[in-house]
Amino acid sequence: MAEKLTLDRNLALDAVRVTEAAALAASRLMGRGDERAADQAAVDAMRRALNILDIQGTVVIGEGERDEAPMLFIGEEVGTRNGPPVDIALDPLEGTTICATGGPNALAVMAMAEAGGFLNAPDVYMDKIAVGDGLPDELIDLDDPPAKNLDRLARARQCDVNDLVVLVLDRPRHQELVAKVRETGARIQLIRDGDVAGVIATTRLNRAVDIYIGIGGAPEGVLAAAALRCIGGQMMGRLVFRNDEEKRRARGMGIEDLDRKYGLHELAGGNVMFAATGVTDGAMLKGVRRFAGGANTHSVIMRSATGTLRLVEAEHDFTRKKAPDEAMA
Ligand code: FBP
Repeated sequence: MAEKLTLDRNLALDAVRVTEAAALAASRLMGRGDERAADQAAVDAMRRALNILDIQGTVVIGEGERDEAPMLFIGEEVGTRNGPPVDIALDPLEGTTICATGGPNALAVMAMAEAGGFLNAPDVYMDKIAVGDGLPDELIDLDDPPAKNLDRLARARQCDVNDLVVLVLDRPRHQELVAKVRETGARIQLIRDGDVAGVIATTRLNRAVDIYIGIGGAPEGVLAAAALRCIGGQMMGRLVFRNDEEKRRARGMGIEDLDRKYGLHELAGGNVMFAATGVTDGAMLKGVRRFAGGANTHSVIMRSATGTLRLVEAEHDFTRKKAPDEAMA
């Protein structure tokens, strides 16, 4: 069966080593005010870890296109080339500013799918709406006003709209959205960054919020969709373009209908797996704790085929490795 040939259980456990390596590397630079250095450290470590996996991996959601991203660029091939073909969506450091300022919810994230499973989203914005697991199908619609979506959600939850918490990225572009949500009486949590963790916060992993609404990164949308495919949940997204150049790039990546509204399975289809390791403390995962000669990491790994969700706490002993920052779990 395709599932056995590609995203098997061993690969799921290997995936966590990749996010652990990126998180360990980024954590050394937490709070140092240097976003680029933290991101670069995570990218380098993730790439090294990916390249020893027995896969024929292709990065489809990565650090950017080849000319702007020297490593883990879209189209880059990773892995030993000895294993199954898999598409990879990654963000070695989701929340570069968070990490650089020591804020909450920075993650190292990776998802894998069978070839062709992920939307090949360019690095543009995406308008998104997402709810977690355990709700009636087709509960939300990106084209409905917040009042309608929140009313349906409150009914499904058998609560009042003003019991709900809506998570929104704190950006000037969301002024109108925030005003509309406030009109409904629902409560709002504004976050500075990190909407992969924000979407996952709607699920049973932490149930910190009830719904995510707003515009964030398109690559982050695909990663969040992969997580929801595994743990359960609903999501819709539509690419948002700021100029013709972004539209040209999207067309170049095979996107014909620029206004298309994507459902969860169109963002992340087929068998997928998702792994994340906390870089800084968050509602979902604790961040890296460093101590003399080692560090602790907290990760989650999930697979859509089985719905298994594993929380992995690891202790890494740097004294047995040549270079601590190249530590592979
Ligand atoms: P980075 O890790 O690339 O800094 O992304 C952080 C983030 O907050 C994402 O979680 C979110 O999708 C995106 O930025 C929003 O973009 P912008 O900061 O341009 O509004």
